[in-house]
Amino acid sequence: MAVDVHRLPAKFRHRFPITEAARTAFARLVNAAPEEIAVTTSLSAGVAALASGLRFAGVRNKVVLTDWEFPTIGQIWHAQEARGARVVHVPEDETGQIAPKNFRNVIDEETKLVSVTHVCYRNGAKLDVDSVVRLAHEHEVPVLLDAYQSIGSLPVDVKALGVDFLACGTLKYLLGSAGLGFLYCRRELWDTAWPTATGWFADQNVFEMDIHDYSPAPDARRFQSGTPPVPSIYAGIAGIELMEEIGIAETQKHVRKLNELLIEGVDDLGGTVATPRDPNRRGALVCIKSTDAERLVAQLAEEGIVTSSRDGNLRVSPHAYNTPEDIKTVLWELARRREFLA
Ligand SMILES: Cc1ncc(COP(=O)(O)O)c(C=O)c1O
Repeated sequence: MAVDVHRLPAKFRHRFPITEAARTAFARLVNAAPEEIAVTTSLSAGVAALASGLRFAGVRNKVVLTDWEFPTIGQIWHAQEARGARVVHVPEDETGQIAPKNFRNVIDEETKLVSVTHVCYRNGAKLDVDSVVRLAHEHEVPVLLDAYQSIGSLPVDVKALGVDFLACGTLKYLLGSAGLGFLYCRRELWDTAWPTATGWFADQNVFEMDIHDYSPAPDARRFQSGTPPVPSIYAGIAGIELMEEIGIAETQKHVRKLNELLIEGVDDLGGTVATPRDPNRRGALVCIKSTDAERLVAQLAEEGIVTSSRDGNLRVSPHAYNTPEDIKTVLWELARRREFLA
């Protein structure tokens, strides 16, 4: 929609262009076009808008997920069971991996969508997205990637990955704040979803103010909702620009070195790393098995070290601003608390 912002009422003059600037910044980051991006208030809001736009009445009513998904993904797709969807989970195998071959039996002519996470928030494992996309596309099934745990920590290029939809937020490795998310939708698929979870910023003409009609925007803006989160957008754009300036590929290399140091140090302490050791099969976070992860996180916090506990593991997520000295400090504090290492 071409909008002459100078003709808009004063309160919109700002809201509209800043949202368009967010679309442009995110599009650049993931190698998409701004029209392929919706600005949302969370990852969940974007995925829920997409889910609301799909119809599950026909034979193609199966949604395929993995057991590595963040709760919101499982919950949104299971909510669609009330609308006729069938949800199938691909489990972890005995090696703790989800190999692409495990998708072979579940992706078929009845599959509507494959919805997978790029990096698992619980164990840091990275999915072989290329193989899953190839398999899904053989059956003409689109793929939605949850990139929340990868975006900003490694280069994410929607064209190179071949994904059809991608959702994320900005508060982790993009250094933004809560309240902002993005949904990418490949241009060829805009028409395949007619969202019923919607709002006036998703309308074809936001300023028409028509209460007698619903005509979603022709592009990915159809997945937006009400007034965009203007304050979070400022932080979001600044975070994206900062990560671009630092360099995301450089950050990935830097963090890999930090994580090698961390993994070696945990081995030396007799601890157990729950994250895959192959750097190509993990994201930026490393999980360490613990006898009491909650208490360990609390004690590290007292030393000024911010970590989290997931699945009984200590989760350490270094980023561009961390140094080898930081890792040595973490290892020093773990050495003083070996009883917490499992
Ligand atoms: C992989 C993953 N997906 C989704 C989310 C949550 O997204 P939101 O709260 O923006 O809906 C998170 C947050 O931690 C996450 O790690």
